[in-house]
Amino acid sequence: MDKIVVNGGAPLRGKVTVSGSKNAALPILVSSLLVSGKVSFTNVPHLMDIQSIKKLLAEMGAEVHRKEDKVTIDTSGVNKVEAPYDLVRKMRASILVLGPLVARMGKAKVSLPGGCAIGDRPIDLHLKGLEAMGAKITLDHGYVEAEAPRLKGARIVFDTVSVGATENLMMAATLAEGKTILSNAAREPEIIALAGVLNAMGAKIEGAGSPEITITGVSSLAPVEAAIIPDRIEAGTFMVAAAMTGGDVVVERCEPRHMEAIISKLEETGATLTVGENFVRVVGPEKVKNVDIRTAPYPGFPTDMQAQFMAMLTQAKGASVIQETIFENRFIHVSELKRMGAHIVVKGNDVATVKGNGGLSGAPVMASDLRASASLILAGLVADGETVVNRVYHLDRGYEHIEAKLQGLGATIERLHAS
Ligand code: UD1
Repeated sequence: MDKIVVNGGAPLRGKVTVSGSKNAALPILVSSLLVSGKVSFTNVPHLMDIQSIKKLLAEMGAEVHRKEDKVTIDTSGVNKVEAPYDLVRKMRASILVLGPLVARMGKAKVSLPGGCAIGDRPIDLHLKGLEAMGAKITLDHGYVEAEAPRLKGARIVFDTVSVGATENLMMAATLAEGKTILSNAAREPEIIALAGVLNAMGAKIEGAGSPEITITGVSSLAPVEAAIIPDRIEAGTFMVAAAMTGGDVVVERCEPRHMEAIISKLEETGATLTVGENFVRVVGPEKVKNVDIRTAPYPGFPTDMQAQFMAMLTQAKGASVIQETIFENRFIHVSELKRMGAHIVVKGNDVATVKGNGGLSGAPVMASDLRASASLILAGLVADGETVVNRVYHLDRGYEHIEAKLQGLGATIERLHAS
């Protein structure tokens, strides 16, 4: 298995370009299942999760081609409605095929994703929503099956804000009979991006980006071409890297409007930010200030940036309190950061106090999930000596060429390929 070796100490300087958003690309690629014909998307990042979704679509009979950043999917041959365990277990977002398949094919069978490293992550909201739209749901032998000759519009009130459930049901509702209202819907930029693509296909969606989304069903959708929005979490990760190393970095081709919570939290740490139309320049502070963080659904502080900020706050003067409200068990990076000398105390499984002022020292560490892996790389950038991050396949799920991009900013980092 590949490893990444980081030698800390250098402040990052220069420019870095942000790739297309993983979390926007996944549902948008899946939305191709709603049409019969050839769709194409540009600015699709080269990531393991994108590979997994391409495989899944191919498994269903779609023809999928990639040329550079453009992915073309021909769904005219889709004839299978099953997402097998082997593909779903690699990536939970595979559950997103459930809604579109029932909507277009009348039937879907998807392996239950099960637990994962960052908690239980149930799919009850996806299933309840489809049931409210008239689908018959059965759970059998580790698979969920959904069936409906044609879904019917319904009013669905989510009791938790869920990005995936909002996306799944929004896609399903485009082809349902009548009107669907999704209440307490997620408001993430990725939801707006997906709604934009669906509307370009001919769907009638209003209110995406607000807590109430109204979808008026149509009888069919048409193929489109669209571009994927920039990845706000990748951008945020480079911004934190710049700030914590005391560097000066321009993060280019990003969407600052999608990152307001990240930008204001970085400013609180003492970093100086210049925000342009599609770039952010970050100049790190002389000494990072301690700040408190509470994760929340968009537009709140993203859970996907929690681990990276924790790495930065090990360098702060004073203590910071981080509260994770979205996922249970999302502090698995803490024990690895502690092995590098960080002073962090976790209470319950949702509050971490980072004591700060820590001189970290390089160590062999283990990546445990996607964002945790990024936090270990960031810690390595300021640690004394060499940090070896093992199990980097987690990182490859969500960061395109991270080591090359960091090298471009002057970091001493390399990938050791497994022999
Ligand atoms: C998406 C993102 C992920 C991000 C997360 C929260 C993708 C591919 N992944 O994940 O990077 O960290 O949003 O911003 O876009 N829940 C239920 N029942 C359900 C569904 C969710 O209880 O049926 C709970 C979850 O356990 C969690 C919360 O709702 O506590 C939010 O999860 P959700 O927004 O659904 O996350 P994902 O869509 O899986």
